[in-house]
Amino acid sequence: MFDLRSDTVTSPTPALRAAMAAAEVGDDVYREDPTVRRLEQRIAELLAKPAALFVPSGTMANEIALLCHCQAGDEVIVGAASHCSDFESGAAAAWARVQFRVVGCDGLFTAADLEAAVRPAAYYLPRTRLVVVENTHNMSGGRLFPPAEVARIVATARAHGLGCHLDGARLWNAAVAAGCSEAELCAGFDTVTVCFSKGLGAPVGSALCGDAATIERALRYRKMLGGGMRQAGILAAGALHALEHHRSRLVEDHAAARALGAALGAMTGVRVGTVDSNMVNVDLDVPAMAVVEAARRRGVLVAATGARRLRLVTHLDITGPRFGEAIAALVEAVREAQGER
Ligand SMILES: Cc1ncc(COP(=O)(O)O)c(C=O)c1O
Repeated sequence: MFDLRSDTVTSPTPALRAAMAAAEVGDDVYREDPTVRRLEQRIAELLAKPAALFVPSGTMANEIALLCHCQAGDEVIVGAASHCSDFESGAAAAWARVQFRVVGCDGLFTAADLEAAVRPAAYYLPRTRLVVVENTHNMSGGRLFPPAEVARIVATARAHGLGCHLDGARLWNAAVAAGCSEAELCAGFDTVTVCFSKGLGAPVGSALCGDAATIERALRYRKMLGGGMRQAGILAAGALHALEHHRSRLVEDHAAARALGAALGAMTGVRVGTVDSNMVNVDLDVPAMAVVEAARRRGVLVAATGARRLRLVTHLDITGPRFGEAIAALVEAVREAQGER
């Protein structure tokens, strides 16, 4: 099976499993796990932030960030269909107790959108407190926020005294797409989420980065949310291995996504969104589920993200010499579904 539903479906490689098995560990709730500390230092260095905290998931990293930045009743500005507003089971309402204000239309937004959405200071209005940029943006089809626009967004946020959080679950992909370093994409943000379990192919783990005082508070929130882990160095070793060995190959996933987009985009009745990274949004003139089923019969798993939309994601388990077979099977699946009309 070629599984294009998500870049989270990868199986750990033998070398990654070996690195996990060999990990030096301690009790991380006592902050005595040397491998976790090594990962946290490595991430802080890579992102040019003073400190980092290893957490079980990207959701927890985002939720801790909201807790660090906001008080109950505050308003958080996000792009449409952002992970922290739409795909975290309502956690932001349950834990940080904030409300979201959505700007832009397809996940990306501009500094002008932000400027227009910041509420004036009045006791009867919610207090605009934070802006969240998701880069790359998942539901928009892995779109890259243009770095110059991000700089303007951060400057606008600063001018209004807002905090800035970057949901960089796929920051690694964004850096490849932008042709710059992860640190450059993080500049100006107070806090940053990164994930090791997406395109990098580690089985578990994310990190929240920021200044030392924020990460000290984050440690407390991590414990409150049940994210304190004991011999977590086993997981951190997988993340370190993925960082060292799988980051440089993301460029192959992006090339595969472009090839997939080009093949499908050449078909009548199919519209392919801009392919910036390892995702392809495909709008169809037939029900998406018909293509999902036809593709499954041909050994390709794809996800319907709308009645007539598919999201296809490339990753290290499928991008390789045989990927052309997946593309051909998908083209046939679309043809079959179109033939059924
Ligand atoms: C942009 C983004 N942020 C955060 C997350 C949450 O990560 P996790 O599944 O580790 O909770 C995801 C998951 O897909 C994501 O796509």
